[in-house]
Amino acid sequence: MYADARAGALDAFWMPFTANRQFKATPRLLAAAQGMFYTSNDGRPVLDGTSGLWCVNAGHGRPEIAEAVSAQLRTLDYAPNFQMGHPIAFQFAERLASIAPAGLDRIFFTGSGSESVDTALKIALAYQRSIGQGGRTRLIGRERGYHGAGFGGISVGGLVANRRAFGPLLPGVDHIRHTHDLAANAFSAGSPTHGAALADDLERLVQLHGAETIAAVIVEPVAGSTGVLPPPKGYLDRLRQIATRHGILLIFDEVITGFGRLGAPFAADYFGVTPDLMTTAKGITNGALPMGAVFVSRDIHDAVVDGPDTAIELFHGYTYSGHPAACAAGMATLDIYQHEDLFSRATALAEDWREAMFSLRDAPHVIDIRTVGLAAGIELSPRPGEPGARAYEVFVDCFERGLLVRVTADIVALSPPLIVERGQIEMMAASIGEALARVA
Ligand SMILES: Cc1ncc(COP(=O)(O)O)c(C=O)c1O
Repeated sequence: MYADARAGALDAFWMPFTANRQFKATPRLLAAAQGMFYTSNDGRPVLDGTSGLWCVNAGHGRPEIAEAVSAQLRTLDYAPNFQMGHPIAFQFAERLASIAPAGLDRIFFTGSGSESVDTALKIALAYQRSIGQGGRTRLIGRERGYHGAGFGGISVGGLVANRRAFGPLLPGVDHIRHTHDLAANAFSAGSPTHGAALADDLERLVQLHGAETIAAVIVEPVAGSTGVLPPPKGYLDRLRQIATRHGILLIFDEVITGFGRLGAPFAADYFGVTPDLMTTAKGITNGALPMGAVFVSRDIHDAVVDGPDTAIELFHGYTYSGHPAACAAGMATLDIYQHEDLFSRATALAEDWREAMFSLRDAPHVIDIRTVGLAAGIELSPRPGEPGARAYEVFVDCFERGLLVRVTADIVALSPPLIVERGQIEMMAASIGEALARVA
């Protein structure tokens, strides 16, 4: 329960992506966090099965990050990066470039995943124009994709609930098909066997619109928010080949797959497929401060950063692009990832993770389980006439028994901090199993 019992104490905060009235009638509040655990407002430990929102990859309450941010704020709290600069933004960009997939070593800072997506789409358009391909204005996304909440992101995104209230969105956007195929692929661990040919849907859109009208295609290497859909085997390679063949830029949205989620620094490394641009956020600062970064290939950067030396090359940026405190948080976060070898942790735990999740295979209502790296989607059959209700009840039940999971429609999603211990993985599976046994 919320400690402040005054009527209306929760009214002023219009909560994001939340059923506000339901929540405020029975609030769930987290008051503190350390390591793998939150502490609820009423003092109960809650095991973090979701890294907050896929961002606290190194676990909560890291003093190294707090100290770096505090020192930075006392040294230089804020300085602009428009026609000015400050050292830590350059240092952090260089650090990020040093861990980037081959060639993606030019870094544009943003304040969030949504801003990273908008930035990548705009860079793609600017690049095409700069190489004399100004007719390439079309952007391609994928059904069931999530690319944040900005107009760019919801336009290329493919989740109807995020789109339907907001008008015609960006013009000239189209979508390739999603890759979810329960009939062919249910209970695949890792990348499913069937579906590489779905990448050919990009070829269909080329035939429909003409390659010369298409600037870029953006996909999440693992579709996360829609319920953890690993790409079919061979799918990303095929998408890469088709995009290259037609001069279409390939953007990987790595906002959740970046910074170790899959057992490699980025999904591009894990799947061995290099995009032209990569959007990141979340784990870049371990969630401690808002920040994002777009990793851009040197060729794209050099084509845009051209022309007279005195001209601003890209009319784009944010007040908080490369915020000093966020850069400090990011540098301290990278130190932790590297000192604790957290980018390989998901690989070390992969078998235990898979085993624990698949132990729920015969639990009530479960129709699919998907695992990749340290992420899992457990799909439930919807209760007739009440889509989403069953998974929501599992979420509430888990929270009451001390586990934070995330649900999207009737899918329970898990993405714990990379510091998770084997025993805690077993606890997660046990709590979800008990919740599943209880819901109707
Ligand atoms: C793949 C992907 N892209 C973009 C975003 C948006 O990030 P943010 O909420 O920081 O704007 C998210 C957030 O979950 C995401 O999963």
